[in-house]
Amino acid sequence: MKKILLLCLAINYLECSPNHGSVVETPNGPVRGVQNEKGDFTMYLGVPYGVVDEDNPFGDAKPSPKFTSVFEAVSDSTLCPQYSGRPVGDINCLKLNVYAPNNIQPKDKLPVMFYIPGGGFIGNIGNREMLGPELLMKHDIILVTINYRAGIYGFLCLDIPGYNNQGLKDQVLALKWIKDNIESFGGDPNRVTVFGQSAGAMSIDILFLVKEPLFQRAIIQSGVALTPWVIAKMNNSVPINVAKELGFKGDDVKAALDYLKAINAVDVINVTHSLNIYDTENHPLTKPCVEMESEGAILIDYPVNLKPKVKDLDIMIGHTLREASFRYPVSDESYYDNYVFDIELRQDFNET
Ligand SMILES: *[C@@H]1O[C@H](CO)[C@@H](O)[C@H](O)[C@H]1NC(C)=O
Ligand SMILES: *[C@@H]1O[C@H](CO)[C@@H](O)[C@H](O)[C@H]1NC(C)=O
Repeated sequence: MKKILLLCLAINYLECSPNHGSVVETPNGPVRGVQNEKGDFTMYLGVPYGVVDEDNPFGDAKPSPKFTSVFEAVSDSTLCPQYSGRPVGDINCLKLNVYAPNNIQPKDKLPVMFYIPGGGFIGNIGNREMLGPELLMKHDIILVTINYRAGIYGFLCLDIPGYNNQGLKDQVLALKWIKDNIESFGGDPNRVTVFGQSAGAMSIDILFLVKEPLFQRAIIQSGVALTPWVIAKMNNSVPINVAKELGFKGDDVKAALDYLKAINAVDVINVTHSLNIYDTENHPLTKPCVEMESEGAILIDYPVNLKPKVKDLDIMIGHTLREASFRYPVSDESYYDNYVFDIELRQDFNET
């Protein structure tokens, strides 16, 4: 046995591993996942749903090209560039995890739950370590969790078409991937529930305003499109200031973007973090943005002026238990005395 195992390791761990899943043929090519430890569900980890243009990491991503050989979906270690105690991530990060129970009959098509994680639009983590599937896998559903670009790579708000809302557009790309591919994993593309928390919930509420209905149900937790701070103001100085910090000279936003494109994402994130790109109320400046009309634009007016494009949608809305209680140990009494009435209301009514 020992000898066989060693041989396996020498040849190819995955081919011999007792817990590798069978190959799923998807319209986007063959994908192989892994069994969980107990063997009751299969995990397809880090499946690419889109590709970021390495020559233009601030621009639109494209759908993932078809796999020509079996894609081994065994690692979800790639995060989108963000600061998480230190600068981390890789720009080639548009990946999702699919979790599917093992005991389903091939003819059953299960409802799909698609999770958009929060993170204040400056980061998000869709991996198994952060979003473990164990609870939901006790029910007959297919679960999908995603990464999307955030911060300077996902939510620049420039007066140049094509440099806005990249993170939201990534989410739309992932939803299109679901529509095209989830049936191969046992999911029903016509029964997709999108759910998310905080920035994830705000994103979903904004996606209601997108033309094509990409899901049938939604669960929105702790955030909506009308949250006072959610929409950014156009601000070309964000990439210019970051580029200057890295040695760029000048005030031209396109030249600054060209300069940043050539720099490693981790270094750009590190500088972005140290520059502290937040407004005076401590909300990020990189977030969803009203875009100028263009072919790829998805949000062309303030949510308050737009009517949802999706009809007959089942929506559950609320907030998570003890939402934002992480603030408790770091905020003094005056924070609580002042928070709602002083900050949020003043912002709501634009009185400062
Ligand atoms: C624009 O961004 C800069 C940081 O690059 C910030 O200092 C400034 O306050 C922002 N302006 C507005 C109107 O938000
Ligand atoms: C991030 O920047 C700080 C200086 O602000 C520097 O000390 C540190 O080495 C940088 N870290 C990385 C991983 O580049």
